[in-house]
Amino acid sequence: MTTLVAGIDSSTQSCKVVIRDAETGALRRFGQAPHPDGTEVEPAAWWDALQAAVSAAGGLDDVAAVSVGGQQHGMVALDADGEVIRPALLWNDTRSAGAAEDLIAELGGPGEWSRATGSVLVASLTVTKLRWLADNEPDAAARVAAVALPHDWLTWKLTGAQSLETLSTDRSDASGTGYFDPARGSYRRDLLGMALRRDADGIVLPRVLAPSQTAGIGDPSAGLSHLVLGPGAGDNAAAALGLGMRRGDVAISIGTSGVVSAIAPEPVDDPSGTVNGFADATGAFLPLAVTLNGSRVLDATAQLLGVDHAGLAELALAGDPGAGGLTLVPYLEGERTPNLPNATGSLLGMSVASMTRENLARAAVEGLLCGQADGLAAVESLGVPVERIQLIGGAARSAAVQRIAPAILGREIQVPEPGEYVADGGARQAAWVLSGEPEPPTWQTSEVRTVEAEPTPEVRGRYADRRHLVADRA
Ligand code: XUL
Repeated sequence: MTTLVAGIDSSTQSCKVVIRDAETGALRRFGQAPHPDGTEVEPAAWWDALQAAVSAAGGLDDVAAVSVGGQQHGMVALDADGEVIRPALLWNDTRSAGAAEDLIAELGGPGEWSRATGSVLVASLTVTKLRWLADNEPDAAARVAAVALPHDWLTWKLTGAQSLETLSTDRSDASGTGYFDPARGSYRRDLLGMALRRDADGIVLPRVLAPSQTAGIGDPSAGLSHLVLGPGAGDNAAAALGLGMRRGDVAISIGTSGVVSAIAPEPVDDPSGTVNGFADATGAFLPLAVTLNGSRVLDATAQLLGVDHAGLAELALAGDPGAGGLTLVPYLEGERTPNLPNATGSLLGMSVASMTRENLARAAVEGLLCGQADGLAAVESLGVPVERIQLIGGAARSAAVQRIAPAILGREIQVPEPGEYVADGGARQAAWVLSGEPEPPTWQTSEVRTVEAEPTPEVRGRYADRRHLVADRA
C-alpha cells in the first residue's frame, strides 16, 4: 500500500499543503488558504488557514507523516498558560530597526553578533522584536514564558499544544532567531536576556531537533494520533530540501522576499551583515542574502501600469536592456539588504525619451534582479561555491524575470517547473523521518529549463551607481 506524507508551507501570504507518495515523491493532492495582510498577524489566523488548506487537500486521515515549513523569524510570544501574548511581529516588520542598532552597540559591534549567531542583526531577526517588546510593551514582555517561531508554533498546535516543554524547532529556523549559535548548535540565553532586559533562564525555548528527528505525534483529541510529525524548517531551508540542493547549488527565490541561498558545508560569518549564516535542514549550512522587496515590486509596477503580470512581462521584454536609462531602486517596503529599513524606492534617469511604459516595466524587473545579483555576489565573496543557479518563487513565473535574470546575473540560470518547493521540502522531510535512513529520500526531480542571455554588466553598473540615491523616511 502507498504511504502518503504531507508538507506544509505557512508563508507570509498563504498556507499551502502538498500530499505526496513517500516513496516516489509523486504529487497526490494540494490545498491552499490565504493569510491576512500585514506585518503583524494573530497566529490563530495561521492555524485557521492551515486547517482550511489541509481540508482543501483532502485531509490527513490517510497521511502517515507531516512537516511544517514556515516564514522565518516571526515572534510568537507565549505566556505561562501557552496563550499567545500579542499578535506575532513578522520578518518584514521593520519597527524593531532601532532595537537592532541598540543591541549591536550593546554587544560591541556587528562582528560580535555575526561571530555569536552567524548574523548581524537587522529588524527581521526575532531577537530585535523581543527588544522592541521590552521597550514598548513592558507588561507583555514581563509575561513572556516561551518564544516560538511560526513553524514551531504550528507543529506544537498539531501535537495538541500540551505544555510549553513540548515545543520544538529545528536548526534552520533556530538559526534565524538571533539567540542561537548555528556553528555550535546551542542557544545563547544571554542574548535573549539582553533583548528582554531580564533574566532569560526560566524562558522556555523550543527543543532543537536533529534534521530527521520526530517532533512527536498528532493530537489524539483531533483524531491525528496516526500522524508522525517531522521537525519542520524555516521556509528557505525547506525550499532547499524540496529542490534537492547540494554543495555548489544556489537558489534565487523571489516571493514576498527575494532570497539568494546556497548550501555550505561550514558555518559562514559575514561581519558586513549582507549574508546571514543560517543552518540548513540537513545538518549543513545555508548562507543567504534577503531583500524585503520581491514579487511586490512587480505587483506594484503592474498596478501602476494598469496591466496584469503577463502584460507587465510583455512590456518589460519590449523595452531595451537598460530601460532607456531608467533605473528603479525598488526599496518599496524599506530594505534589509542593504540595511535601509526606512528607505523608500526611487525612479532615476527620467527623461522625455526614457519615460515609456516599456522602460518602466523593464526597470522594475532589472531593479528587482540587480538586488538579487548583489546578494549572489555577497554569498560568493565568502568563498561559497556557486556552480548552478535555480530560479524559483512566484516571480520566477514571469517570462520577463526568466529572460532578463541571466543577463543581469551574467550567467545561465535554471528554471525548474513552477512548484511549491517549501511545502515539497516539508513532505520530503516527513518521508525522511518515516524512513529512519541517514539521508533524505531521493525523489524524481522536476523538469528544469536552462535560460541563457547576453550579459548586461552596464545595467548592473548603473544600478550600483544609483542604488544609494534613495529617500530615507526616518
Ligand atoms: C529570511 C526571511 C524571509 C522569510 C520569508 O531571512 O526573512 O525569507 O523567511 O519567508
